[in-house]
Amino acid sequence: MTEHAPHPKIGAHFRRALASYTADAGVQAQIATGLAQAIAAASPAQGYRTGFEFGCGTGFLTRALRDRNCCSNWLINDLLPEAQAQIAPLFAGHRAWEFRAGAVEKMELPQGFDLITAASAVQWVRDVPALLARLTGALTSGGVLALSSFTPRHFVELRTLVPGNSGMSYHGAQDWQRMLAALNLLELRAAEQVLRIASPREVLLHLRRTGVNATAQVPWSRGHLSAFEQAYRAQFPDGAGGVTLTYAPIRVLARRR
Ligand SMILES: C[S@@+](CC[C@H](N)C(=O)[O-])C[C@H]1O[C@@H](n2cnc3c(N)ncnc32)[C@H](O)[C@@H]1O
Repeated sequence: MTEHAPHPKIGAHFRRALASYTADAGVQAQIATGLAQAIAAASPAQGYRTGFEFGCGTGFLTRALRDRNCCSNWLINDLLPEAQAQIAPLFAGHRAWEFRAGAVEKMELPQGFDLITAASAVQWVRDVPALLARLTGALTSGGVLALSSFTPRHFVELRTLVPGNSGMSYHGAQDWQRMLAALNLLELRAAEQVLRIASPREVLLHLRRTGVNATAQVPWSRGHLSAFEQAYRAQFPDGAGGVTLTYAPIRVLARRR
């Protein structure tokens, strides 16, 4: 069984992927754009004054929100201190933003945010309900919590071929409804996007380039790898000589009462 990976291990995987993430994480880019659109649609007439984004990475969501002028004052976080240099150019000439590195679970959170958001990041947190309780407490009354994560259907191919606990906090729609029961749910949208990838080995490279292999129990010995590739090709062909890889994102928006 895979345990939730410790922060230094998660950080090391994302650090290695920083250079390739923007080019390879096409699905995450779409997810971030969709989340920013939903956030803009839920905006109060006067806009959000104060926002907190955690797990900013290379800034897909940060950029999409900035492009929509969603918020006047930003606190931005990522586990990796290097993320600050990734997002600083987005705020050139804009003083009302601050970056804090570290695990969001351990961060001292200021209070009174109109918006708290994260794209493709909360599934790395071990105890999501505990984090949600803290985030909710940091929202103003009427403030919006807007998150995009993944359901247990995410990477179903890998789940099938390498059974066991994914080591990730993947929650489905019912879990989110329960976890957000104290807020007014504005939107809950789960989807699936099936990528066609040239080979199982390319799937592993794709995971590596996007940093999401920190908890993957991939059989690295040559014998296991070749058995994994054979089984992958046999069970998940894409009909054109390659294989499938299923992304299963879920978006939730909720308002504090
Ligand atoms: C898949 S990337 C998503 C980046 C960006 N939000 C996007 O939409 O592309 C996940 C990011 O979450 C960060 N992360 C992982 N665990 C974290 C934690 N406990 N606290 C803060 N950030 C975390 C990683 O360092 C990484 O940059």
